[in-house]
Formats: sequence, C-alpha cells, structure tokens
Amino acid sequence: MNLKDQIESLGKEAVELIKKVESLDKLNSLRVEYLGKKGKLKTILKTLGKLSPEERKEIGQLANRIKEQIEDLIKEKEVQLKEKALEEELKKHKIDITLPSAWIEAGSSHPIISTLVEISQIFISMGFSVAEGPEVEKEEYNFDMLNIPKDHPARDMQDTFFLNNGDLLRTHTSPVQIRTMLTRKPPIAVIAPGRVYRKDADPTHSPMFHQIEGLLVDTDVTFTDLKGILKIFLESVFGKNVGIRFRPSYFPFTEPSAEVDISCTVCGGEGCRVCKGTGWLEILGCGMVDPNVFEAVSIDPEKYTGFAFGLGIERIAMLKYRINDIRLLFENDMRFNHQFKGIR
Ligand code: DAH
Repeated sequence: MNLKDQIESLGKEAVELIKKVESLDKLNSLRVEYLGKKGKLKTILKTLGKLSPEERKEIGQLANRIKEQIEDLIKEKEVQLKEKALEEELKKHKIDITLPSAWIEAGSSHPIISTLVEISQIFISMGFSVAEGPEVEKEEYNFDMLNIPKDHPARDMQDTFFLNNGDLLRTHTSPVQIRTMLTRKPPIAVIAPGRVYRKDADPTHSPMFHQIEGLLVDTDVTFTDLKGILKIFLESVFGKNVGIRFRPSYFPFTEPSAEVDISCTVCGGEGCRVCKGTGWLEILGCGMVDPNVFEAVSIDPEKYTGFAFGLGIERIAMLKYRINDIRLLFENDMRFNHQFKGIR
C-alpha cells in the first residue's frame, strides 16, 4: 500500500472506531493512539522524508486534512459523551423534593434582649423615643456634666475602666441624658438602653451589663409624673399586684432622688433569701433633674423641670425569670439559653 492509501485507510479506521466509542476514557486513548506524538499518523509520516518535494507536499496536505477530520470528530464526540455523562449523573442524583428537610433549629432572643425590648416598648407606648450614645465616653459626659464631683468615689480607678487617652467605658447610661439635652430642645422624652461597664464581678455583678436610662424634660414636670410613669412601667413588667415604694436616696444628678423597690417577686413580700428577709427588692434609681445638670447643658432651670431614672436590665431579667446568677446570662450555655425559647 502506498503512503496515500495508508493514510486514508488509517483515517477511515480511526473514524469508525471513534464513532463507536462509548466513554471519554476510550476516546482519549484513541486520540493518543492516532494523533499522539508516538501515534499511528506520526509513525506513517516518518517515511515522508524519502519522498520527492511535490509528493511530500501532497501527502503532507492529505495528512493534515485527515488529522483535522479526526480532531473534529473527537471534539464532537467529546461533547456528546459529556452530555450523556451529565444526564446519567443527574438521573442518579435525582432530588426527591417530597423528602422531609433536615432539622434546623430556630433561633430566639436572649433573655436580656427580650427584657430590653419589652421595657423599651412600654416606654415607647407612652410617647418616649429611643436615644443612643457611645460606649466609649468622655469623662465630662459620664461624670462632670452630671454633677458628679471630681472626688466622687464612683470615679475611682477601682470602678471605672479608663482608656489611655482619658476617655472611659461609660459606667452608666446617664451620659446619654447629657448628649440628648445638648442636641435637642425640650420637650424631651427619651429612653436610652445600652451596655455599661464597671470593674465588678460576682454572682450579681458583671463587668459589662445593660441599663436603660429615662429622661423627660418639659415645663411643669413634677415628681408625681415620675411616680405615675414608673408605676405604669413596673405594673406592666411585674403585674398589676406588684407592691411599689419610693425611698428617699441620693444621686448627684437628681434632686430630690429616690430609689424604687418592688415587693419581692419570689416570696410576694413575706421575706425570703432573695429579698434578704425584707420583702422588698430595689429595682431602680430616679429623681428630678438637678438644676446643675440643666445649667451644664444650657437649659433654663427656671423654665423647665424634668425627671430621670436608670435601671439595670439584667436585674429585671433575673427577677422576671428567676435567674439566680448573673453569669448565666453571659456564658451562652445552650441548656440555659434554650429555656427562653418562644418568650418573644
Ligand atoms: N446612673 C445611675 C446608676 O448607674 C442610675 C440612675 C439613678 C439614673 C438615678 C438616673 C437617676 O437617671 O435619676 O446607678
């Protein structure tokens, strides 16, 4: 057989085989067998050197045509085989949409957040709006402008986290009062929930905890308004039958000041371990805004009066849900957290 016939029959042979091929692996080995570096076509073309230049050109062109024909066919076949493989794969992994899904547990609010939201909602329903301030605060706003003197023990390094630049982590949400009065004119009715920080850690104290501050400023605001608002608030949280008492107290930023107690949620007032036998639980601090605070924020104390209050959210959550150790609220033990599912 001459070279031309050899190449042509090689082409036919390859075409037949490729047409019949059923797998990508086989197709690949045919590619190597016929077109590879040591493949059949290359082997035949090795004898090309012995031919005259004209013959060489003719045979060379023929060989190229056959090579292209085989290549095209391989490409075509490859596409077909890949499609077929994909179809088979899809058939094998057919998704049964009627199968029940994997169990995904629904999340829920942390008791601190539920309590914060519940308290906020009560005040919002009475016309208060929510104000915010930064957790890294100026000493001026956290202490000075709230009428807390330089030598006040609350400023002590032992209680307050100071930053190197003189700023501090706010020790209460009261600085939001200052920020609000500096930027807004009365009438003002705001609550300010948020995180606060103190160097404190035991079963009832955490170095980070949450407070809600309240502030109402207008003309003719009286202590009676304060009592009324707090009564509505405490009865919404602890029930209509809760006992409430106001005890005279002292805060630098209010005058007069009071602390508010509720009847013990555990014993109902009989006296137990939680209320240390007194029948009462201290729940918040409050008072009429001190004229010195009004002067610090340039509000005329002759024209305006106001009240303020502050409470710890953890304390309320602990009383409401009978949690006896504040640390349980921050450990994120799922056995604990799961008990508050569905609260809100
Ligand atoms: N800032 C006080 C504290 O952290 C709580 C407080 C008491 C806030 C009386 C007030 C207030 O606005 O009038 O202990």
